[in-house]
Amino acid sequence: MEKTFVMIKPDGVQRNLIGTIVERFEKKGYQLKAAKLMHISDELAGEHYGEHKGKPFYDELVSFITSSPVFAMVWEGDNVIAAARQMMGKTNPQEASPGTIRGDFGISVGKNIIHGSDSSESAEREINLFFDEQELLQYDKIN
Ligand code: CMP
Repeated sequence: MEKTFVMIKPDGVQRNLIGTIVERFEKKGYQLKAAKLMHISDELAGEHYGEHKGKPFYDELVSFITSSPVFAMVWEGDNVIAAARQMMGKTNPQEASPGTIRGDFGISVGKNIIHGSDSSESAEREINLFFDEQELLQYDKIN
């Protein structure tokens, strides 16, 4: 069973989209393993977005993600890494299809509501960055 890291960014939290987004993942059939509302430090932002260091939008990205709380989650299910990316839609909300989270709610590439791991390596790295092992809970799931 696969796990992925999904984070509702400050714009999604401020626009009261936590419930709507969690509902989409629950209704799709994935299991929530961990979740927390948290403020990201500059250090954590630097680690999380390390691959974007040096890009023109990096400073803006770090300042936005640390500006206000995010809602960090771990979801589990078959093929959940790719499926979550499909549910989120393209990075730029203006290119994201209707019916996807960014297509339905996103405004700009910088304020695109949500982040999701793009590979199994990123999922493992990001889950470990944001959560301790004991925060990932095991419980029954009724389909
Ligand atoms: P995310 O999935 O969180 O990963 C990196 C983020 O960088 C991406 O979503 C976008 O929000 C942001 N990003 C990518 N390209 C640009 C850009 N050209 N300008 C501003 N932000 C960008």
